[in-house]
Amino acid sequence: MATIVVGVTGGVAAFKAPIVVRECQRAGHDVYVAATRASLDFVGRSTWEGITSRPVAVDIAGEGRAEHVELARVADLIIVVPATANSLARLAAGFADDMVSLTVLASDAPVVVAPAMHSNMWLAPATQANVKTLRERGVHVIEPASGALGSGDSGVGRLPEPEEIARVALELLEANNRASSALAGRTIVVTAGGTREPIDPVRFLGNQSSGRQGLAIASAAARAGASVRVIAANIESALLEALPTGVQVTRVGSALQMREATIDQVTDADALVMTAAVADFRPEATSESKMKKDPSTDDAPTIRLVRNPDILAEIGHSDKRPPLVVGFAAETGTDEEILAYGADKAARKGADFICLNRVGESVGFGDVPNDIRLLDASGHITGRYVGSKDEVAAGLVGHMASFLDNLKR
Ligand code: C5P
Repeated sequence: MATIVVGVTGGVAAFKAPIVVRECQRAGHDVYVAATRASLDFVGRSTWEGITSRPVAVDIAGEGRAEHVELARVADLIIVVPATANSLARLAAGFADDMVSLTVLASDAPVVVAPAMHSNMWLAPATQANVKTLRERGVHVIEPASGALGSGDSGVGRLPEPEEIARVALELLEANNRASSALAGRTIVVTAGGTREPIDPVRFLGNQSSGRQGLAIASAAARAGASVRVIAANIESALLEALPTGVQVTRVGSALQMREATIDQVTDADALVMTAAVADFRPEATSESKMKKDPSTDDAPTIRLVRNPDILAEIGHSDKRPPLVVGFAAETGTDEEILAYGADKAARKGADFICLNRVGESVGFGDVPNDIRLLDASGHITGRYVGSKDEVAAGLVGHMASFLDNLKR
């Protein structure tokens, strides 16, 4: 039995929300209702109290209670039904001055939102931008149906049938429960970020990697119950601080430091995921003092580079390798070309999987979705994940869990 909070906002479709509550109860769950003041004009307190046999949460302050935090803490799932255009905007902006938005903001439970409004409001760029923001944050926004609207018009914006909303929400709850133990008892090492190869005390050869995809994988693995170790090369502190509690972080700078830390951390691990952008070359020598220009000439120094060790290949081919080794490859070119590069990389590096990321054209950068194909050791596509970095991470972590479960223990 799970605890579900149904958040009701003030739209004419609110009359369908009691059926969502009933469906959740019929599935054996404990349901609390949080309502905005405006919603009480559509469905009153006594209806909610009659259905749930408990007070409806409306007031965010009063009698010294921290009810909002309490509901957020106990929730295993939050369903906002109906969600008005106004409430979508408030959820997207992180408002917290009514019981519904406040509960969503304070909870880390999965959130399902069922919008209902006039077509013009649904299709308005502001609403669409809010929906996009919420989806990027992992909120499950159910597409409204088309048909007769409260205003007498007809079009998209109608609340889907409440039974359907409950079905989608309960499926998500179940998937979330399965996912939250998929890697229980496993130790996963994730390298992330980009190495910096020192030229002198103030200069380095580096790359643009932010480390976000690696941290998304580390977070997804931790949420799936794994014990997670991150080897972080030059990642912003704020990003590392946002990792779930318990994730262990080792900071490194250069490829050689990353190699040492990775070999050390991976000995008793079940899986290594190498998302880090490791420099292939480093300056042969690092100057101990800052390199100066000679004002008397136009000459520029020459920096001689040497190859860095390939950490993935070294661990992938070692007899002490963890049972699962995953590498990343960012490639440009046609579909055929990148698949060939990926297959070659999987074989060369001794990886069980290569996550092949096509970059440079319409995917892989900025806020456009990632499109990752998972190639197995023989170069066959065994999965494809399109979406935000979190969605891609969740897909990959699910695949890793099945791979480890299928190995002989
Ligand atoms: O060969 P390429 O750099 O495209 O391979 C990328 C994969 O290899 C990534 O998983 C990266 O973390 C890993 N790698 C490594 N050591 C290097 C270079 C890349 O482990 N020196």
